[in-house]
Amino acid sequence: MTIVILTSGHTHRKADPMTLRLGDIAPDFTAPTTQGTISFHEWLGDSWGVLFSHPKDFTPVCTTELGYVAKLLPEFTARNTKVIGLSVDPVESHERWETDIAETQGTAVNFPMIGDPDRTVADLYDMIHPNASDTFTVRSVFVIGPDKKVKLTLTYPASTGRNFDEILRVIDSLQLTAKHKVATPANWKQGEDVIIGAVVSDEEAATLFPNGWTALKPYLRIVPQPGT
Ligand code: BEZ
Repeated sequence: MTIVILTSGHTHRKADPMTLRLGDIAPDFTAPTTQGTISFHEWLGDSWGVLFSHPKDFTPVCTTELGYVAKLLPEFTARNTKVIGLSVDPVESHERWETDIAETQGTAVNFPMIGDPDRTVADLYDMIHPNASDTFTVRSVFVIGPDKKVKLTLTYPASTGRNFDEILRVIDSLQLTAKHKVATPANWKQGEDVIIGAVVSDEEAATLFPNGWTALKPYLRIVPQPGT
């Protein structure tokens, strides 16, 4: 437990940041956003979610990232996935910055941005890495399933804009493997062949994939993507 002394002189107890691991429940929080106050788990409902942080408002790489995600939003929505951003700047600052994003990126930001000046959410999700920066959030991405469990974590440095097409690709893979007993190979894309899960016996595979599969090795069994 860390005791934080606020400028008002009040003290505030904060849990020490805990590394979030795959399969952990994504911590719930209530926070102000550009679309009003959001209680995270309630806001997610039955959807998948992407929570991503950026270091600071009015910075160049972040400006391009938010514009790109705004353009991609229909793709996330088509995958029943809600998107929410965060930086340690306040909501009023996000709102002023969003005018610049619309002007320079050609798309208005169409998803909520959390204002987190007291770092409540940043601490919950361990988004401040003090040896990189004491004050800015790193570029974190959390993909969260409808069961509220963390399905993917990514951490990028401040100077590298993220590849959000890759986040969509991972969501496609996660949603496919949540439904079928398959895994997806390197660089897989929607519609390409997949791999029969390692825990599936040949006997079970014969029931699940009655049209057969190609076994390059006993443990490497390739089938067309189910449901296509
Ligand atoms: C950027 O978004 O361009 C940025 C933000 C913080 C540090 C470095 C770059």
